[in-house]
Amino acid sequence: MKNNIFLIGTHWGDEGKGKVVDVLSAEANACIRFQGGHNAGHTLVINDKKFILHLIPSGILRDNVKSVIGNGVVVSVDALIAEIEELQTNGIFLDNKLFISQNCHLILPTHIAIDQARERKLGKKSIGTTGRGIGPCYEDKTSRKGIRILDLKNETIFLKKLEDLMEYHNFILKNYFHEDVIDIKIVADDLLTKFKLISQYIIDTDEFINDLCMKGGVVFEGAQGTMLDIDHGTFPYVTSSNTTLSGLVSGTGVNMSLVNYGLGITKAYSTRVGHGPFPSELSNDIGDRIGKIGGEIGATTGRTRRCGWLDAKVLKKSIRLNNLSGIALTKIDVLDNFNEISICVDYGEIDYESFSVEDLEFIELPGWKTSTVGITNYNDLPKNAKLYIETIEGLINTPIDIISTGPARDEIIQKINILDV
Ligand code: GDP
Ligand code: IMO
Ligand code: MG
Repeated sequence: MKNNIFLIGTHWGDEGKGKVVDVLSAEANACIRFQGGHNAGHTLVINDKKFILHLIPSGILRDNVKSVIGNGVVVSVDALIAEIEELQTNGIFLDNKLFISQNCHLILPTHIAIDQARERKLGKKSIGTTGRGIGPCYEDKTSRKGIRILDLKNETIFLKKLEDLMEYHNFILKNYFHEDVIDIKIVADDLLTKFKLISQYIIDTDEFINDLCMKGGVVFEGAQGTMLDIDHGTFPYVTSSNTTLSGLVSGTGVNMSLVNYGLGITKAYSTRVGHGPFPSELSNDIGDRIGKIGGEIGATTGRTRRCGWLDAKVLKKSIRLNNLSGIALTKIDVLDNFNEISICVDYGEIDYESFSVEDLEFIELPGWKTSTVGITNYNDLPKNAKLYIETIEGLINTPIDIISTGPARDEIIQKINILDV
């Protein structure tokens, strides 16, 4: 039987999770998202065509894969329909391929309005959210006011719940943020109409997911990254879900004894989009150069990503928190033309007012100054690229089992087949 595995971003998101999930999905049976929402942007490049998935698991482009949106994901019906339609336009049909948990909480227009109003009010102290209503939706889930997809099945119950919740939201929008309110009837009619377009995909997923795991070959796909975790990240500059292993358990109901391998997705350098501390950030020409070569523009919001050297201290924390078995190191090709490459290995306390960090320590390694683009065999890598990879392995005491050498599907080194080990 094939392994069931999970993938989690080890830093601040955008590590290349989508690409690695797509590659591994070639031999998988199912791909499952467990947290976050359409704040995620997972990029797949297939035959020079770019697909950006926000809500639907990155295994969806493979005919052999069942894609499941687990109960821990927050769902915008508009974003979901837009994504389904885009896939269908590209000839990817979802019948008997896409399954969505009826327990997912719905992102309402008022969640989005509150998210954006709150950011405006915070001004310079804003979090730099994606403005997709993620935080307010998870707040309503935790305070037990939220509306789940299953509520849409009963019009009377849905209308009552929506009215209660949106009246509360509109009160806050009007009286606290001094913003426009949103018409409850228009939202109700819109959601009830659009539910008809997605109802065929809605199921009760927890038993379904465990049954899939009994058959093997399941890839659980994390969104965001460990340092954006609501509990373990750089709070308050985080997202509102558990992006770490606990989110996988609560967001699917999987029996963890069925999951055999955890893969951390780590970019060969670090990036962050949005505000908050970033100890190894390079606010200089080198950072700009990395960003330019790496195309570090947000897949969801189009914002420029901040860049810095690989933060090995964060990587160690991520391995510990997520019980990772191995790492996929992505975008190594972006570092092809640097004379020296540094790794941030340690620092003191982070000051959450100024975001400054004391006692930063780096190790510096020689660059390889040769193209690694498209290399598929570890032994074909230049000597100094191997030195870089093996230095990281030594620091983290964990194997780097996969190395990504370009955005396309075939640009990858798989030292082991993690679905089979
Ligand atoms: P995710 O959110 O973790 O799925 O990552 P994103 O899709 O937001 O960002 C990763 C970006 O890097 C995308 O544009 C990918 O196409 C690209 N990418 C992924 N792996 C590689 C790689 O090994 N080399 C290069 N040059 N680009 C890559
Ligand atoms: P993927 O899955 C990078 C960041 C936002 C902001 C913070 C909170 O593509 O790696 P939110 O809208 O979630 O309340 O914003 O989290 N953020 C991401 N950064 N990659 C992501 O997803 C992100 N999803 C949210 O920029 O700093
Ligand atoms: Mg992304």
